[in-house]
Amino acid sequence: MKSRRTLNIGLCGLGTVGQGVWKHFGRFRADLEARLGARIVLRRVSVRDPRKARGVRVPASKLTTDPLSIANDPQIHIVCELMGGTGTARQVTLQALARGKIVVSANKALICVHGAEILAAARRHGGHFLFEASVAGGIPLIKAVREGLVANRFPRIYGILNGTCNYILTKMEELDTPYASVLREAKRLGYAEKQESLDVQGWDTAHKASILAWLAHGVWVRPEQMIVEGIERITPADFRNAASLGYGIKLLAIITRDFATNEIGVRVHPTLLPQETVLARVSGVFNAISVTGDVVGTTVYIGRGAGQDATASAVMSDLADAVALLLHGKGAHFMGEDRPPAAKGTRLAPPERIRGRYYVRLTVADQPGVLARVATIMARNRMSIASVIQGPSERAGLASLVLTTHESDERSMRGALRALTALASVREAPLLLRIGDFGD
Ligand code: NAP
Ligand code: HSE
Repeated sequence: MKSRRTLNIGLCGLGTVGQGVWKHFGRFRADLEARLGARIVLRRVSVRDPRKARGVRVPASKLTTDPLSIANDPQIHIVCELMGGTGTARQVTLQALARGKIVVSANKALICVHGAEILAAARRHGGHFLFEASVAGGIPLIKAVREGLVANRFPRIYGILNGTCNYILTKMEELDTPYASVLREAKRLGYAEKQESLDVQGWDTAHKASILAWLAHGVWVRPEQMIVEGIERITPADFRNAASLGYGIKLLAIITRDFATNEIGVRVHPTLLPQETVLARVSGVFNAISVTGDVVGTTVYIGRGAGQDATASAVMSDLADAVALLLHGKGAHFMGEDRPPAAKGTRLAPPERIRGRYYVRLTVADQPGVLARVATIMARNRMSIASVIQGPSERAGLASLVLTTHESDERSMRGALRALTALASVREAPLLLRIGDFGD
């Protein structure tokens, strides 16, 4: 009988996701081996602190504190980078690719910043870089966009891409509780990044939006080129205001392409979504993404977007692809990860031209004439007010004034915000949220 080939995996990182991969690999290994016809061994594992208590038991003989030694190990065929960060992780990734290995990564921050360099290195050295777990956790969204929807061009992709923020927003709305107490729970559950500002300030969503924009349109858009706003200033009162207007609040990534002008728009901000829409009802750690293709129409993907098991599921999918690639060659993966659609002639849409409706919350002095002054500023900036909700503020002597507007553009809205901020009777920086009427 022909002997089976042995393929060795090196795991860099044994934190939330790494432990999930270790745990499920034990369960999945025999099945994977039977399906793919190879022996698959998790040969080495790197950590920073080998004495740390963990939820899985890894034999000491497999452990190292030197992830580069895994990247350089000639016995290892597949390197799984689950450390996070853009320093050592980049070194390990490039080193492993330089040695012709396949690298599997969940590291969206690294891919957003160094994706072009990493994919070029994979091409140059005949390796592969697989990153299903980097966007939307357990949802196979990258496969869907790259393979399942290969016949499509994408005028619009938008969705909830950060499980931590969706968990926080859901709990704030359900329990009428402030943001900081829910963030602690999201960290305990293993959803949040080590540096939690990446989640709550919108940067993690921006990293994922950047990867999706590249997959859909073949251009790398850096977070600095996008509008990126997070959820830190949203209060339970905003959920009550939004509900009274018929909306929920979600942190969305929105990626658009106008095929007439060839302009691409990528932005991340909290958005009021009509309560009856599918995405407005997606709660907890779940992600949901609406992908509109010019051939298929609109498709929607929902599933757990963060956490040990969901993320491990996506990593294992890449590990299975990596084994298939090693056994059967590139044909096993017909849409190579280095082949985005042509990006020729595209340019970034200037953010100030983005059109939409707005929700503005002002904390103002509770005095006669304030509403008139606010209305004058809006009119001077060509902003048409659609509704006004006035109520008491939590602070004595102040009132909360919530305006929604008819459709306008970012330039006008920003002009109005600057003037409102300068008004003596406006006592806090205004909170701006966008209203998303996507019609699906
Ligand atoms: P984590 O819990 O902080 O684990 C990181 C692991 O990497 C730890 O085992 C740590 O060692 C090790 N490590 C970190 N820096 C190292 C270094 N310089 N040298 C050696 N080892 C190092 O992180 P995680 O939540 O598993 O996330 C891992 C990656 O997956 C990140 O890129 C993250 O963005 C991404 N991701 C996470 C999720 C999620 O839900 N958590 C979902 C999708 C993607 P010690 O354990 O010894 O400290
Ligand atoms: N911190 C990220 C989130 C992990 O909450 O979505 C998954 O990418």
